[in-house]
Amino acid sequence: MIKTFLATLAGSLLALAAPLAVADPIVIKFAHVVTDDTPKGRGALQFQKLVQERLAGKVKVEVYPSSTLVGDADELEALRSNRVQMLAPSVSKLNALSKALRVYDLPYLFDNLEAVKRFQRRDKSRELLGSLVTHGITGLAYWNNGGRQLSATREIHAPADLKGLTFRVESSEVLAAYYQQLGAEAVQLPFAQVYDALRTGKVQGAENPWSNLLGQKINTVQPYIVEDNHSFLTYMLITNTSFWNALPFEIRSDLEAILDEVTQSVNRDAEGINAKARERVTASGTSKILVPTPAEREAWRAAVMPLIKKYEGEVGSDVLRAAEAANRR
Ligand code: LMR
Repeated sequence: MIKTFLATLAGSLLALAAPLAVADPIVIKFAHVVTDDTPKGRGALQFQKLVQERLAGKVKVEVYPSSTLVGDADELEALRSNRVQMLAPSVSKLNALSKALRVYDLPYLFDNLEAVKRFQRRDKSRELLGSLVTHGITGLAYWNNGGRQLSATREIHAPADLKGLTFRVESSEVLAAYYQQLGAEAVQLPFAQVYDALRTGKVQGAENPWSNLLGQKINTVQPYIVEDNHSFLTYMLITNTSFWNALPFEIRSDLEAILDEVTQSVNRDAEGINAKARERVTASGTSKILVPTPAEREAWRAAVMPLIKKYEGEVGSDVLRAAEAANRR
């Protein structure tokens, strides 16, 4: 009897001495298609670092750059099935799911990156972060890259110079319509295929911010780059709605606070990162950089203005007016 009692007591004491079972951290797989040294690549790494510093043991972020885990073709499906928990695709790749997001692809709508950022802070644009919820996707923030620069195998000054060329575009009807409106062809290809498509001559042109041009070595296969900023590459940081809503409240709040901080740095630093990338492309001597004169710019604008009318119904007049107003402060 006494023996049994002692054995039970010893067992209980041992159980008390054993370390408490530690729950596994919540894992957030953050996949994207660009290199680490771009606004989005750096943002993802900064997010990983801050989560490691502030939520160690509770949350772990794994970053998969350069389409190493999933790419343009399968990343949305991976997010919706919770195989990855965070992505930051270009809004162009989301605008088949939410037509109002097409506002970001309309050419010559925003005068500069500052206007894009102002628009992103306003209600009409904030509302669009929630426009994918019916697809199981929650928008958390806008991250910016920079102006899209047109690049090609031939010198380009006016719309007529595009005739006969095929351009790679993201999976966006509006981006394709831009080239068709100008008398060229457009092919939608995943980002990971852009360099090869240019190198092999499958396409003769593309459109990218400087950081992506450099990151993918696109300048080495494009002898002419027109710095026209005809539209701006904006990302939406997105997550799986069920995953996000099921996070413990405290953890979700901490992640939101970290994301606010990262979003501010990404959007503050994007312009500088692109300016440095431009310097490196210039220094590499691979490409002639053409800066359109005000008159040339006006000719491009006039040629594609019908697209604004064409897509106004889908985008919504209220969203379009809010975007235009952001040019005026
Ligand atoms: C592209 O496909 O050109 C871009 O969306 C890639 C990126 O994520 O910057």
